[in-house]
Amino acid sequence: MLNLEIKRPSATHFAPANIALIKYWGKKDEKLNLPTHSSLSLSLGNLGTRCTLFWDEDLLSDFLSINGRSLTSSDPMLLRASKFLKPFAPISKGAFRVVTENSIPTHAGLASSASSYAALTLCLNDLFDWKLDAKELSKIARLGSGSASRSFYKGFALWNAGNAANGSDCYATPIKVKWSELRWFVALVSEEPKAISSREAMNITKQTCPWFYAWVDQAKHDLQKGLEAIEKKDFNLLSSCVESSSFSMHATMLCSTPPIIYWSPKTLDLIHLVRSFRFDKGLDCCFTTDAGPNVKILYHVRHEEILKELLHDQKGIWINPWN
Ligand code: PMV
Repeated sequence: MLNLEIKRPSATHFAPANIALIKYWGKKDEKLNLPTHSSLSLSLGNLGTRCTLFWDEDLLSDFLSINGRSLTSSDPMLLRASKFLKPFAPISKGAFRVVTENSIPTHAGLASSASSYAALTLCLNDLFDWKLDAKELSKIARLGSGSASRSFYKGFALWNAGNAANGSDCYATPIKVKWSELRWFVALVSEEPKAISSREAMNITKQTCPWFYAWVDQAKHDLQKGLEAIEKKDFNLLSSCVESSSFSMHATMLCSTPPIIYWSPKTLDLIHLVRSFRFDKGLDCCFTTDAGPNVKILYHVRHEEILKELLHDQKGIWINPWN
C-alpha cells in the first residue's frame, strides 16, 4: 500500500515524449491498461512535459492547466487526469492542482499524454516521498496512458505486456543500446487535437477489426525484428519493421467499423516522399505515424544535411533523441 501523506508542498518533474517504433494498439484489460502485446519506443529528446503538482487545501475539485490555459471542470483532459489521480488523493480537505507545460503540441498524436502522465507520476512519487523505482513508476503511469509507461527513459524503451492478470509484470524498461546516430524529424501536418482519442479508437479496432489478432501476431514479429535491428544497428532492418508496424496498425483502423482514418492527404504525400528518399536516393530514413496525421521521420545522422535540404519547405521539428 502506498502512503498518502503529503510530504512536500509541491513537486516538479520533466518527462520526455516517446514515439513507438513498434506500436501498441489494443488492450487486453481496459481498466488496468494492459496491452495485447509488447511495444518499443524511442524518446523525443528534450521535447516533453514539465509538470508541477500541489495538494491545495483550498480547492474543491482538481485543477489542471496546460501551457497557461486552465481547463474547465467538464474538459475531458481534466476528467481523465482526475480519474487517474483519484486513488492517490489524501483524505484531508483539498484537491490536486496540476500545472503542465508541453513543449510538443497537445493531443495531436505527438505523445503528449505519454510525457504528461510520466511527469505527473514522477511528481506523485516526490509529493508523497514514495521512493519508487522506475519499474513501479512505469506501472503507475501506465494507468493514465499506456504509452506513458515508456516515457521514463532517454533512448529506447521496451514495454513488456507481461502475463500477470493484475499487471504486476507489465512495465517498460530501457534498452541499454545507445544508437547515438539516430535522429527524428517530426513533420507537422496538423497541430489540431485529434478527432477521436486513441483510447476510443483502440477499443473500436479491437472490437470490430476482423483481423485484429493477426495484427497482434504481426506486432510480435515486428518487435523481434526491431530488437534485432537495434542490437545490430541495422538501419534497413529497423526501417522495414518500423514501417510495417505503422502500416499494419493503421490497416486495422481502416478495416474497423466505423473506419478510423487519422491520415490526411498530406500524411500520405510525406509517406511516399520518405519511402522515395530511401528506395530511390538510398537515404537512411523511414517514417512512422500514430493517432494523428503527423509524420515522424527516423533517420541516420549521416544523411541529415541532405534531408534538411530536401525537407526545407516542410514545417517540423528536428530532434536528437539522445539530448
Ligand atoms: O498510450 P495511448 O493511449 O496514448 O496510446 C498510444 C497509441 C500509439 O501512440 C498510436 C502507439 C504507441 O505505442 O504509442
